[in-house]
Amino acid sequence: MTDKYAVIGNPIHHSKSPLIHAEFARQTGENIEYTAIEVPLDGLQNSLQQLRDVLKLKGVNVTVPFKEQVWAITNQKSARAELAGAVNTVVFNDDGTLFGDNTDGVGLCRDLTVNHQVELAGKRILLLGAGGASRGVIAPLLEYQPANLFIANRTAEKASHIAELFAELGNIHGGGFDHIDGEFDVVINATAASLQGEVPPLPDAVLASGACCYDMMYSDTDTAFIQWAKAHKAAKTIDGLGMLVEQAAEAFFIWRGVYPQTTSVISMLRDKS
Ligand code: ATR
Repeated sequence: MTDKYAVIGNPIHHSKSPLIHAEFARQTGENIEYTAIEVPLDGLQNSLQQLRDVLKLKGVNVTVPFKEQVWAITNQKSARAELAGAVNTVVFNDDGTLFGDNTDGVGLCRDLTVNHQVELAGKRILLLGAGGASRGVIAPLLEYQPANLFIANRTAEKASHIAELFAELGNIHGGGFDHIDGEFDVVINATAASLQGEVPPLPDAVLASGACCYDMMYSDTDTAFIQWAKAHKAAKTIDGLGMLVEQAAEAFFIWRGVYPQTTSVISMLRDKS
């Protein structure tokens, strides 16, 4: 029997997730069907119930703007989802309960460390943005024990507040862009600025020699942040396509217990763009 899954969001028509999961299914021989479903902005609880009871889905991925709302709805959560304050993967348990997980952080870290051999341990990391996207990756980044992690945000208080939430897990601080001090080995853009073609106001000398710049967004052409990084002589620039595939692979593993191969899927998506 074919098990059914979907990604839910609003809007959702541009999602690459159906293509990614179809490829994982082909590769692993898992008998699944995966679609993209746009759900209305209000009545999310009702939508989830219909997906489970009427469409008989086994689970869903969750994207903008529902990750925080789904976090509040799920009955049980993984420790990493609990910390992230957001859920991007849901399992519809047979007993009717919902289990929520968050695979974004592990997806980012795997793309950085495995696909691009970027060292995080002992490094100085600058994370730009203090919204849901940023919060979701903090705990997984701190697991690598960087020398420090500074969260910089347009609204400074949001960054210092988030840093306090995670203070037990490592050497983490936060503030406004004007509080950025010194050079960093890894700079990760988790702001929505690239969506508007903007770059956060970073000091000129923020990149250490050999620095890597990572934009959690991706597009067919360089994002504004990647352009900035190249202009400031970053040794390595990476967009978020690999993170997208890696977070999907972790979700596939949660649902199916099989870990798909990701590099061929990343290459396939690059070739298509
Ligand atoms: P997401 O779930 O994508 O993180 P969000 O929670 O709305 O979305 O957060 C968006 C983030 O991008 C915030 O950190 C926001 O900064 P503020 O907290 O000050 O609003 C940041 N952001 C959005 N547009 C930006 C811009 N043009 N320049 C710098 N930061 C920007």
